[in-house]
Amino acid sequence: MDDDESSNDIKSFFNLSASQYPFPHEVAEVLGKRALTEAVILIRVILWLLWTRLGTFSICGFLCVSKKWPFINNFSSLSLDQREKIVQRCLKLRFLTPIRLAFVYIKVLCLFSVFSRVDENGDNPAWKAIGYEVSSSDEEMSNLCDKNRPLGKGVIETMHEHDTTLQQSLSNKGLNVTFDSKNNILKIKCDAVIVGSGCGGGVAASVLSKAGHRVIVLEKGNYFVPKDYSSLEGPSMDQQYECGGMLASADSRMIILAGSTVGGGSAVNWSACIKTPREVLKEWSREHKLSLFESFEYLSAMETVCERIGVNENCTREGFQNQVLRKGCQNLGLKVDYVPRNSSGNHYCGSCGYGCRKGEKQGTQVTWLVEAVENGAVIITGCKAERFLFESNNRNGSIRKKKCLGVSTKILNSRVTMKLEIEAKVTVSAGGAIMTPPLMISSGLKNRNIGRNLHLHPVLMTWGYFPESNSNLKGKVYEGGIITSVHKVQSSSNDSNSDTRAIIETPLLGPASFATLCPWESGHDFKQRMLKYPRTSHLITIIRDKASGQVTREGRISYKLNSTDKANMRNGLQQAVRILIAAGAVEVGTHRSDGQRLKCNENTSGKEIEKFIDSVCPVEGALSPGENWNFYTSAHQMGSCRMGVNEREGGVDENGESWEAEGLFVCDASLLPSAVGVNPMITIQSTAYCISNRIVDYLGKGTQLS
Ligand SMILES: Cc1cc2nc3c(=O)[nH]c(=O)nc-3n(C[C@H](O)[C@H](O)[C@H](O)COP(=O)(O)OP(=O)(O)OC[C@H]3O[C@@H](n4cnc5c(N)ncnc54)[C@H](O)[C@@H]3O)c2cc1C
Ligand SMILES: *[C@@H]1O[C@H](CO)[C@@H](O)[C@H](O)[C@H]1NC(C)=O
Ligand SMILES: *[C@@H]1O[C@H](CO)[C@@H](O)[C@H](O)[C@H]1NC(C)=O
Ligand SMILES: *[C@@H]1O[C@H](CO)[C@@H](O)[C@H](O)[C@H]1NC(C)=O
Ligand SMILES: *[C@@H]1O[C@H](CO)[C@@H](O)[C@H](O)[C@H]1NC(C)=O
Ligand SMILES: *[C@@H]1O[C@H](CO)[C@@H](O)[C@H](O)[C@H]1NC(C)=O
Ligand SMILES: *[C@@H]1O[C@H](CO)[C@@H](O)[C@H](O)[C@H]1NC(C)=O
Ligand SMILES: *[C@@H]1O[C@H](CO)[C@@H](O)[C@H](O)[C@H]1NC(C)=O
Repeated sequence: MDDDESSNDIKSFFNLSASQYPFPHEVAEVLGKRALTEAVILIRVILWLLWTRLGTFSICGFLCVSKKWPFINNFSSLSLDQREKIVQRCLKLRFLTPIRLAFVYIKVLCLFSVFSRVDENGDNPAWKAIGYEVSSSDEEMSNLCDKNRPLGKGVIETMHEHDTTLQQSLSNKGLNVTFDSKNNILKIKCDAVIVGSGCGGGVAASVLSKAGHRVIVLEKGNYFVPKDYSSLEGPSMDQQYECGGMLASADSRMIILAGSTVGGGSAVNWSACIKTPREVLKEWSREHKLSLFESFEYLSAMETVCERIGVNENCTREGFQNQVLRKGCQNLGLKVDYVPRNSSGNHYCGSCGYGCRKGEKQGTQVTWLVEAVENGAVIITGCKAERFLFESNNRNGSIRKKKCLGVSTKILNSRVTMKLEIEAKVTVSAGGAIMTPPLMISSGLKNRNIGRNLHLHPVLMTWGYFPESNSNLKGKVYEGGIITSVHKVQSSSNDSNSDTRAIIETPLLGPASFATLCPWESGHDFKQRMLKYPRTSHLITIIRDKASGQVTREGRISYKLNSTDKANMRNGLQQAVRILIAAGAVEVGTHRSDGQRLKCNENTSGKEIEKFIDSVCPVEGALSPGENWNFYTSAHQMGSCRMGVNEREGGVDENGESWEAEGLFVCDASLLPSAVGVNPMITIQSTAYCISNRIVDYLGKGTQLS
């Protein structure tokens, strides 16, 4: 690109505004579709106030007063300068937290829209200026390995069905369907019905169908194959993530990312395949008395899982952010490990998190579920489980008062009005740790562990800027494998066996996610930061959270870190800043709302650096008045229906079976007794593998077992 053209791009970028068509429309649409009702009301009220002069005065005070008639102005008639001052003030407001919250919401939605929206040609008005490109060369497209749909013969995509076609489509898959016309319900019978097709559900489907059982998998998301993936941040998040990637905890401190598509989290994960750490297994088996986790059964399940998804450590070419992490650690003499993945050693694809277009990433949709389909399993997409069906359990001597008969579902396509009910010998809940508890609770289960003990592996990020001209680390943030290196922050730096306080890895941040997390100080400053996007390397600090939260209803999640967690987070964040500086960053910073950052060059004294590092710590969330805040993010949810040796300790027993209902099993991240401390997918799949084998035993025993 020649200089003129690039300076023109930059000029038009500085003229770009989120108030221009079509951004406001898009923001309104997303708000209506995704936000909690309270948030919509709040934003309506605030916008209405800003539209009136008195309202503007009540929010902005003297900032909206001028010497000329009409003396008090409404927001839109103020100058840009004044409006900017007001936004700055409202993002920091000490007392009126709801106003601040509304401004934060609007900031996030506008920025996400501006940096992710594409027109019909796939272009975005900001991308060229900030140096972002979506890789989609024709050559790459023609290389897309698989043109066919590996789950094709077993999948029923309800988005293409009508009331008149559904029954036939189900029968065509060999299912025994009956129609109850009085109640407009289609009923299907099978041996096992599995809710969710992610890590847990995929493994269960494979193991159960291989054992000869008739399996039906229900998935509320849709089915995508490599050629369907756009690699575009906006549409991908909208289609493949729970709540379009906009799920937040009740106090808006935590943004929660979870997959919602065939393959679940495994289709969008960042490829890290790390086995359960030995100390964690020891804790689960000794403190929680769950012998499973130190058994030969579990250890060999981990081997089976890693083999099945082809985990390997060979990474020949690391992306820019991982080079930063590695070099920083090496310069500080810190240990840095390769992260095993299943992708060829040279798989250099930075948008795997939006679905891997090269089809290399081994999510359940291309591994376990394919096996399941080959063994006759049927996957119904766009189908949401709403309630488990129970009858009272009159079997002699059972401690379980209920018996699970199956599940009642809703098809998420308005052209299908009939309900679908699946009757099964066993019912498996594998909707993930934020969806399984609401489903159990709304079905009438009462065990107090259901929904509690929710661990999130909270994440905070730090960043460093590395201009291309004075760094020998090559590449751009959005290129290359997402997680290929990890550093474990130990309590004592010279003892590698001491407690791990946090782990440091690298994230996938498209420009829109980057913009959403980036502190907003002023419009100009913000655009300057965006221009540095391709060479701003982020590090994520993940802690093994000791404190936990709760999910009771769908989308309602409460969560708080305690001081132990905060201390670990602080340790990890400070280490991450050291690593960035050691790797040669010319500027480092955090996502704290006031834009905390430090320029580092040969004139920056060690003392200044130490002072800055010392000031880096997690701050409270958006709701605590008067303080700076930052968003936490979470991509790992666990523990919300944990296994326990009795019904006081857990929601399910060591076989994964509900303490209240016979024949109802949980087989996903909710089972885990506590946080894993590393990326949990291998742990979830290994646990699911063991549980699935126990379900096979249960089915084998018929109804005879005690
Ligand atoms: C962006 C991102 C990156 C990640 N990166 C990594 C990584 O690199 N390494 C790693 O180890 N882990 C990673 N994880 C975490 C990992 O993917 C999850 O922990 C894991 O997928 C959880 O497995 P699960 O079986 O509990 O649920 P999921 O895999 O989340 O599957 C649940 C599925 O059930 C469906 N569902 C839910 N409720 C219903 C219902 N009522 N009816 C029908 N269907 C329903 C959902 O749509 C979803 O598809 C990442 C997660 C995300 C979001
Ligand atoms: C379908 O279910 C009905 C009712 O249980 C049963 O009578 C019938 O034999 C079943 N058909 C097949 C093909 O399994
Ligand atoms: C992502 O998740 C799936 C989950 O099954 C796993 O098979 C895969 O190896 C993970 N990582 C990669 C590289 O895809
Ligand atoms: C990966 O590396 C291991 C050694 O760590 C080697 O044995 C193996 O052949 C390599 N596999 C691939 C696919 O390159
Ligand atoms: C990933 O796993 C699949 C299936 O097990 C295997 O065929 C493939 O070779 C693996 N990929 C790599 C690069 O190891
Ligand atoms: C149930 O248990 C009681 C007491 O143990 C026994 O007397 C009775 O025969 C059992 N009934 C059945 C149906 O097994
Ligand atoms: C934080 O919570 C965990 C688990 O409840 C507990 O073990 C720990 O002591 C708590 N820390 C503090 C400082 O309260
Ligand atoms: C460092 O300080 C010297 C002397 O004041 C100055 O000439 C130089 O430009 C400074 N370097 C940077 C990168 O600011």
